[in-house]
Amino acid sequence: MIRLRNISKTYHRGGQTIKAVSNVSLDINDGEIFGVIGFSGAGKSTLVRNINLLERPDEGGVVEVNGQDLTKLSARELRKTRSTIGMIFQQFNLMPSRTVIENVIYPLAGKGLSRKEQENKAIALLQKVDLAQRAHAYPSELSGGQKQRVAIARALATNPKILLCDEATSALDPTTTHEILELIKKLNEELHLTIVVITHEMAVVKDICHRVAVMEHGRVVELGDTFSVFANPKEEVTRNFVKAASNLSKADLLAKLPPEQLGMKPGEKLVRLSYLDKTVSEPLISSVSQKFSIIMNILFADVELVTGSPIGGTCGIFSGEKQNIENALQWLRDKNVKVEVLLNA
Ligand SMILES: Nc1ncnc2c1ncn2[C@@H]1O[C@H](COP(=O)(O)OP(=O)(O)OP(=O)(O)O)[C@@H](O)[C@H]1O
Ligand SMILES: [Mg+2]
Repeated sequence: MIRLRNISKTYHRGGQTIKAVSNVSLDINDGEIFGVIGFSGAGKSTLVRNINLLERPDEGGVVEVNGQDLTKLSARELRKTRSTIGMIFQQFNLMPSRTVIENVIYPLAGKGLSRKEQENKAIALLQKVDLAQRAHAYPSELSGGQKQRVAIARALATNPKILLCDEATSALDPTTTHEILELIKKLNEELHLTIVVITHEMAVVKDICHRVAVMEHGRVVELGDTFSVFANPKEEVTRNFVKAASNLSKADLLAKLPPEQLGMKPGEKLVRLSYLDKTVSEPLISSVSQKFSIIMNILFADVELVTGSPIGGTCGIFSGEKQNIENALQWLRDKNVKVEVLLNA
């Protein structure tokens, strides 16, 4: 459905050159939900704005949508093709002086529909996003999640084949995020929409994306089906996403408390274990306790089994003879477990 080849985008600002996207090639299949994840400034928005030519790639870049090379189209043909690509944004971009239904009708202007037909179409779209009852409200009277539903209905008005979502849930709380993601998933299934989701949140990708590309410094550094990429991250940036999404980052907060508050006794250590590769497994913890006569009092764990291997880790308090604890931690490191001593009582 989308075929990008050698896409680069260079900005020139006051004598400075910024390479926002650097030689990216990728294919997005018909009907898939494709994630693009990366930290701020990685080039995600710039890359995705090349798909509908809101940005033109540097010389040599090819943007094919549904078999058509967009860079070769006349302005008029491009306008027509653009209407097959809907887009939604973090800030919703609704027109504040128009009601919900007028916002949805807006892209239908000049499409040869009567006023009644436009209204019927807009109502049907609002029903699809479960907001028909607010058709005559103004955007300022809606919650963030409702505003995004209006933006989705508006994006769908021209019957697009592709929906681009640039941080569409980043301004929403977790529950509302989940609801909007469920809606996006439903639209993908019911309308057979191809969807590109840009995000800096791993939870979004994990929830709905079939495949994912990880971007850093304008390049795609990792790409694959979502499970494989996060179960076995090859790049540091991908590992950082896995870590940030994990409950294990809560351990950093515990490490700021006085040890007594965690019930730690002198000599005990607060330790975080993270599993970095597929060969390690949960029984390590019971083995290490027996082997070295120590106790690991588990505070919490965040382990997901992906094709039989754990990703995530465990956080707990090690107690026992000082040397035994040292030996146990070394044994774990030798098993390729990442060991972080966060607090010594
Ligand atoms: N119009 C522009 N002119 C100059 N530089 C730009 C322009 N748009 C983006 N950039 C630069 O290109 C780089 C990539 O920006 P981009 O917005 O694509 O990143 P992003 O991954 O979407 O980040 P975020 O998560 O913050 O939205 C940044 O260094 C940014 O400052
Ligand atoms: Mg962006």
